[in-house]
Amino acid sequence: MPPESPDVLAGGPTESRSALERMLHAYRTSQVLVTAAELGVFGELGDHPVSAGELAAALGVQVGPLSALLGGLEALDLVQRTDAGYLPSATARAHLVPEAPMPMGGWVRGEASRIRSWAGLTRALRDGAEEVRSDPPSAEDPQRGLLEIARGSREAIAAAVQTVLDPRAPARILDVGGGHGAYSADLVQTHPMWSAVVADRPGPLAVARRVAADAGVGERVEVREVELPTARLGHDFDLALLFMVLVAFERDQVPTVLRGVHDAVRPGGYVLVRGFYWRDALEAALFDIQSHLHHGGCRAYSVTDVSEWLVEAGFDGPRLLDSHGMEKGTLLMARKPEQSR
Ligand SMILES: C[S@@+](CC[C@H](N)C(=O)[O-])C[C@H]1O[C@@H](n2cnc3c(N)ncnc32)[C@H](O)[C@@H]1O
Repeated sequence: MPPESPDVLAGGPTESRSALERMLHAYRTSQVLVTAAELGVFGELGDHPVSAGELAAALGVQVGPLSALLGGLEALDLVQRTDAGYLPSATARAHLVPEAPMPMGGWVRGEASRIRSWAGLTRALRDGAEEVRSDPPSAEDPQRGLLEIARGSREAIAAAVQTVLDPRAPARILDVGGGHGAYSADLVQTHPMWSAVVADRPGPLAVARRVAADAGVGERVEVREVELPTARLGHDFDLALLFMVLVAFERDQVPTVLRGVHDAVRPGGYVLVRGFYWRDALEAALFDIQSHLHHGGCRAYSVTDVSEWLVEAGFDGPRLLDSHGMEKGTLLMARKPEQSR
């Protein structure tokens, strides 16, 4: 009897082989979704079935390969095939068609350039990430995907903020690295007594100006150009938002960012930190790898890291909030003591 082969992954060798196969082919599934979004498939699907031929003509692509793509989309439950043609599935209606209530199309299309840099991961390790970053950037506005994430989590954020700010009293919010400014615009729009400052670089601030104007709150959302980590951010804010910003900084820069935020918050005020993927080890590791490809060595920090840095910066009692309803992400609230250190 030959010796049993070592069981590398859970289950028997057949299971481990299947597990490896799934890992190996995961990129195909992503690419089906991204290509469909890039071609505009979901923009052509609506309440009436569309045949593969009609779709191919509308998109300017060949019907044969498009039919194969539609087969993949059907298997992924992103389209439904009827005798008369294709319809969007419930998932596509919720996230991918134009006017979807919780849109993700910009995010999905933006993933195309990330797939290109991931394909260069081996080269990036051998020759440096600069080699991979020189690939053409996505035509998709990077703010668009972030705006969609903001739209999808506005209720969870409003609920978190209302635990520390009185909706009927005036309050000043500082949105550090606020980018598109949608969180500020949303909060200020639903709370007439509140105002906000969105602090970021000039490019994202142009979007923030437009988002605030479109929400009709241009007078209560100020944009402020800053260069972190050393910029002075102002003072006496009741709440600072720090959403998906620490990832852009090296470990030794994060304490400086947090001290700047601490200086800007009034005694008794709060900071609300939102991070990525801190609960899921695989997502955190993948984000970490991607950060090397995109940001030159920044990281997805753990909740423990960020909590310790918040305390070092002078905040009290960092606590995780229930971020129920948000896509992967974590909310951490901390308070600046009345008697500040
Ligand atoms: C991932 S985006 C997050 C935007 C927004 N807070 C959100 O959650 O959607 C990170 C933001 O940090 C800003 N940022 C990164 N490094 C910065 C720096 N050194 N100074 C000012 N802003 C910076 C970027 O311009 C960008 O808008």
